[in-house]
Amino acid sequence: MADSMRLDRMLSNLGLGSRNAIREMIRHGAVTVNGNTVRDIAMHIVPETDEVRCQGRLLSYSRQRYVMLNKPGNVLTAARDNKSRTVMDLLPPLYRSMHCTPAGRLDKDTEGLLIITSDGDLVHRIITPGKDVSKIYEVRTDGCLSEEDGTAFASGMTIRDSDGEFTARGAELRIIAASPAGSHALIRITEGKYHQVKRMFAARGQNVVFLKRICEGALLLDASLAPGAWREMSREEAAKAANPAGIGMDDAAALIEGEHHG
Ligand code: URA
Repeated sequence: MADSMRLDRMLSNLGLGSRNAIREMIRHGAVTVNGNTVRDIAMHIVPETDEVRCQGRLLSYSRQRYVMLNKPGNVLTAARDNKSRTVMDLLPPLYRSMHCTPAGRLDKDTEGLLIITSDGDLVHRIITPGKDVSKIYEVRTDGCLSEEDGTAFASGMTIRDSDGEFTARGAELRIIAASPAGSHALIRITEGKYHQVKRMFAARGQNVVFLKRICEGALLLDASLAPGAWREMSREEAAKAANPAGIGMDDAAALIEGEHHG
């Protein structure tokens, strides 16, 4: 059976006001539980089964929080940092108090899809190596990509650089535009080694000048979210990020085209 929690904590976690404002609302009879007006702020309820209303509005409460963030550049993927702004600083304090953390890491200059959640089990399913969850990134490079780059990525490549050595699994490259002045492409990888995409392109002599994650598993970045914007997701929507079936490159390409034409 689900655990109970204090009524005022539930309302506060839903962002309905400061603790003091919520206590006042309860004392003034604005809150009902299972049809009965409640004036006891310390009353315990079970949010999953008790029907709680505030000023008549039915409140739906999930103990877990799931956020889709379109991470902007120049922001660290970390819970806290003394010097730089972090992804947690982009959300209201509620999410920190509910122990939300980023599911995985994007480099400071990388943009795009980042899930922030209190659901440790989902984080584990998304980031554990060997789960084969695919990730699709939009990439811009400063050189001319060719079909040979696609072949090299597809067959898997051993990377030796100043960060060490690893063998990247086969990856799928879709070139959108290529010229000596720079190229635009999508890449799908199924692992998340340190600076993986940048190192793979560097191994082909290409410098990544823009990197944005647009898909994780079967979860696509919501095209309506501007950089820095976020929205809540349901548990079901967030769980798509751990789905190894992934989504097709065509759907990912449609998202990019929508952005450039829409
Ligand atoms: N690969 C990178 O090089 N950087 C990221 O942020 C994500 C994938």
